[in-house]
Amino acid sequence: MRVRVLGSAAGGGFPQWNCGCPNCRGVREGAIAARPRTQESVAVSADGQAWFLLNASPEIRAQIEGFAGLHPRAPRDSPIAGILLTNGDLDHCLGLLSLRESYPLTVYATDRVRRGFVEGNVLYRTLERFAGQVTWRVLALGRDEELTGRGGAPSGLTVAAVPLPGQPPIHLRGRLPPDPEDSVGFRIRERATGRVLAYLSGVAAVTPAVRDALDGAACVFFDGTFWSDDELPALRLGSQRARDMAHLPIGGPEGSLAALAAHRADRRVYIHINNTNPILRDDSPERAAVEAGGWTVAHDGLEFEL
Ligand code: MLT
Ligand code: MN
Ligand code: ZN
Repeated sequence: MRVRVLGSAAGGGFPQWNCGCPNCRGVREGAIAARPRTQESVAVSADGQAWFLLNASPEIRAQIEGFAGLHPRAPRDSPIAGILLTNGDLDHCLGLLSLRESYPLTVYATDRVRRGFVEGNVLYRTLERFAGQVTWRVLALGRDEELTGRGGAPSGLTVAAVPLPGQPPIHLRGRLPPDPEDSVGFRIRERATGRVLAYLSGVAAVTPAVRDALDGAACVFFDGTFWSDDELPALRLGSQRARDMAHLPIGGPEGSLAALAAHRADRRVYIHINNTNPILRDDSPERAAVEAGGWTVAHDGLEFEL
């Protein structure tokens, strides 16, 4: 399985347009050892021909242009065979509306995430210009689904959605009660090798279900939003703690670095990194700590064979 990180930052990206925190200012001015990052999205493929995007970020156009594997090979064409949505957060879905130039799309999501995007959304009509513009493939929790390649060919990959502790997207809160289908991780399995990629980019806590989702995976992507619970309040960027936003911090005695210390995989990658996170600095002690724990900090353009 080929894996390519298109975007590695949390919502807002790095730097974020309205943020003058030390990281955002530093990367704008070239004064810190850090590279800019676009919002989270990862492309995977078994054969290098048909690609599946995990989430559709607001920066999808530039992300596609920045990776030759996703460029058209005919006058009207796209190697993107499907788009998988982990939840309805706008940093994960807004990019769908940017793919409106009359091309058939296949989107894999739970029914809850599908409804949250489609129902009552007048902008969705831009993806209903012709019959079959979007084919929704509904993911039932815990069930393996075939990922269909281009032209209906087998892609060599299956996906299972696993429920993660999280929250409904901000724009839907209070409309419907929270549901296990609101936020999921993926276990993507390559048929030929049996190797599994576990993709858990939004995780509120390490529960037994989360451990099951990671079990036996050759590669793990995990929620790297915040280093500490009070990261935003400490920088006077609002009152929300990591736990209020359903993101388990990396650091501290209860953080993911400690909680997953005994977990083994060939490759473990933190993704969905908020612009305030000290792991964004190549020379920070927090970066050194995650690397000493066997983790990679995702950056845009990171590519590997699984
Ligand atoms: C999150 O990851 O918590 C959300 O993307 C927050 C947001 O939608 O702004
Ligand atoms: Mn987000
Ligand atoms: Zn910032």
